Amino acid sequence: MPEPTGPKQSAAPAVAPQSPPLWLLAELTYKCPLQCPYCSNPLDFADHGEELTTEQWIDVFRQARKMGAAQLGFSGGEPLVRRDLEQLIAEGRKLGYYTNLITSGIGLNADRIAAFREAGLDHIQISFQASDETVNNMLAGSDKAFQQKLKMAREVKAQGYPMVLNFVTHKHNIDRIDRIIELCVELEADFVELATCQYYGWAYENKESLLPTRAQLERAERITNEYRDKLAAAGNPIKLIFVTPDYYEERPKKCMNGWGEIFLTVTPDGTALPCHSARMLPIEFPNVKDSSLQHIWRDSFGFNHFRGDDWMQEPCRSCDEKELDLGGCRCQAYMLAGDMNAADPVCSKSPHHQTILDARAAAENSGEDSPITFRNERNSRVFARG
Ligand code: FES
Repeated sequence: MPEPTGPKQSAAPAVAPQSPPLWLLAELTYKCPLQCPYCSNPLDFADHGEELTTEQWIDVFRQARKMGAAQLGFSGGEPLVRRDLEQLIAEGRKLGYYTNLITSGIGLNADRIAAFREAGLDHIQISFQASDETVNNMLAGSDKAFQQKLKMAREVKAQGYPMVLNFVTHKHNIDRIDRIIELCVELEADFVELATCQYYGWAYENKESLLPTRAQLERAERITNEYRDKLAAAGNPIKLIFVTPDYYEERPKKCMNGWGEIFLTVTPDGTALPCHSARMLPIEFPNVKDSSLQHIWRDSFGFNHFRGDDWMQEPCRSCDEKELDLGGCRCQAYMLAGDMNAADPVCSKSPHHQTILDARAAAENSGEDSPITFRNERNSRVFARG
């Protein structure tokens, strides 16, 4: 991890947000029965404090809703680990949120899906690691994971939910994209996100073994497009969404649709973040146990620092494209350039763009047998000890 190069934390004048936090992501827990090596949770997750209580979560939902939040996502870790999940869903729904459960499916069963339905849950998304049972279970770290996911995907659909599947693709599964799509068709999925791994958290640690080559990526995109056309022609309503990794772009994305513009993440211990990875930055982010969400969103240093463009350095400051991408991703700038105020190195104008070119070159030379650091408590404690 690069050395912090952050600014002093002060009660800097706020750039008042024009919009409320429309999307609230409640990371209920860092506990997870699986060990995916591309998890976006912090490397030192094992070292973070007590989880918020049921009452504290409900209070967060209430405050955010009052500010205008409309979507409530439950994620983790694995949110099913929380025994109060049904109650949290019911409260969220009562407050008028559109509610979304993002899960691995491990810990799910037919009764629990029925209870979620009863509580008013709107949407369930199940993630798979691969279409192949062996690869799926190797990445997940559980020899029962694949069969459980298949069963739960079918059960979710049987109970009247649309089937929404997520496959994170990388070097270990991207060459089987055709099989992944076939599996989704067999399962009668409605929406499938084929999201090429982005390199944050554990994925950043494992990027040498996960980043596909450009040829692999282009092949996967071409095959997805062919399936999309073929399935549409056959009247299959399945929606295939293909997400490319930043590392093969020449311009960065407008991360989170703008810092502190729409997204608000609350971590298991109550830390409030403008994006799920921001915890790595040398900024002290506020906690919902100490401050109101209104104060956090409008007035805190952490949420205001990257609003507007005063913070930008060259080449972003004078760039005629800066409104399009707002300098790209702050977390990526910190990871790759060691400076959270720098241009996102994905941008070919960045003086640190070579780091991206080096990663692409490394992907050409690495094989599927490159070592993997799995996301688990033991490895997390090693990172936490530094
Ligand atoms: Fe944190 Fe992009 S993931 S700003």
